[in-house]
Parts: sequence; structure tokens; C-alpha cells
Amino acid sequence: MAQEAARRVLETLRQRPELVLGLPAGRTPVGVYAELARLAETGAADFSRATTFALDEFVGIDHSHPASFHRFIRERLIENVGLARDRFHGLNGAAHDLDGECDRYEAAIQRAGGIGLQLLGIGANGHIGFNEPADELPAATHRVTLLEGTRRASAALFGGDLARVPREALTMGVGTILKAETVILLAAGETKASSVERMVRGPLTTRVPASLLQAHRSVEVYLDRMAASRL
Ligand code: GLP
Repeated sequence: MAQEAARRVLETLRQRPELVLGLPAGRTPVGVYAELARLAETGAADFSRATTFALDEFVGIDHSHPASFHRFIRERLIENVGLARDRFHGLNGAAHDLDGECDRYEAAIQRAGGIGLQLLGIGANGHIGFNEPADELPAATHRVTLLEGTRRASAALFGGDLARVPREALTMGVGTILKAETVILLAAGETKASSVERMVRGPLTTRVPASLLQAHRSVEVYLDRMAASRL
């Protein structure tokens, strides 16, 4: 799965060296980032003209925190593929003005021409980025209150201590994501089988944010067998 997805990123990058990439953190993309790093090392992938934007971030931690998504993507991908630091953008969860930070980020994405290729994982509850199931979803980058299940799923990043997991996060909105030219969603493991099924087969509903991807023209889904087991 990681190799296929990495190959797809590479293909897009070759066609368009100035690609704007949206990037998730989490366990799922680890293999893709490792494969992209390997391809960059062999000279097969050239990220020097690409621009990247992180998908989301916890509130209350800065870029040096071990649980920071900015740090995760920087260490797993950016530093290993020779992408200049000023071409990697992340949300600052420690910003004094968090709403202003979201507006700044959304504007930076639009200034870069929007996302060309957005990689995504999926939460066990169907979230994409930190767009949690809700009656309404803000379209643009925004501040969000995390659900308990999401906080529990994130506890390992905070030494297994749920009390240390932030209650809020910043995330690109579903509108930001749907504006991407192409979306590649990755899912692995049994815990994702139900949300994958509802994303692919279920009705479009903000209660399963990933289901809104059905309205997008160009979405590719990469699954392992367990994640695909209900399809
Ligand atoms: C997290 C992040 C998402 C990520 C998803 C799945 O909470 N907000 O960006 O894609 O949940 O994470 P994992 O790949 O670790 O299962």
C-alpha cells in the first residue's frame, strides 16, 4: 500500500515538479514517507520545487513538541527528501491568536494556488484531518474540539496519558480538502474497516466527514486487506 501510494505521489511530482502537497501525520502514512525518502535518496524523486502543507495540529503544543504533527512530518519526510524548510508549512498550535492562525494558514494555501495532491488518513469515527463528526462542518481551516475517542486514540503520542492530550486542534476544513485537485486517502487495519465502509458506501453526511469525499471528482483510496474487509 505504501509503495503504491508513494509511486502515485512520485508520478504526480514528475509531471508537476512544483506540486503543492497536503500531508497528514499519524501511523498510516509512515510507510509512504519512508518510501518517498528512499526514492529521493536514489534520485528518483525530486522535491526541491514542491511545496507542502501539514493537514492538522494539536492546540497548545509548539513545533518542537514530540507529539507535534509539524515535527512528525518534518522528521519523517521533509528532512529526508531535501525539501527546503521554507517550503514546508504547518499550523502553529501554540499561536496566541488561534483563529488568526487558521485564517493565515488558509490564505497561505490559497496563495500557493491551493492543494494539488492531498494525502489523508481516516479516523475510526470517519474524521479526516481533525474534522470530527458534527451537524455542521466549517469549510476552511479552523479550530476544533476533539472527541473523546480521538483523544484516546492520540494518547500514545502523549506518553499514554489521556490527561495530557489537548482538547482542541487546528485542521484544514473539509472545504479546503475538497478544493484539492486530487485526494489520496490511506487506511490500514481492522479499526478502520467500519469508517472505510461508511466513507465508500454510506450516505454523504457530516456525521462521517470522509463520506463527503464522495462528492470529489478525483479521489483514490489505498487500503490494506483489513481496512477493506467490509467492502
Ligand atoms: C488523527 C489525525 C488525522 C489522521 C487520523 C488517523 O487523529 N488527526 O490526520 O489521519 O487521525 O491516524 P492514524 O494514521 O494514526 O490512524
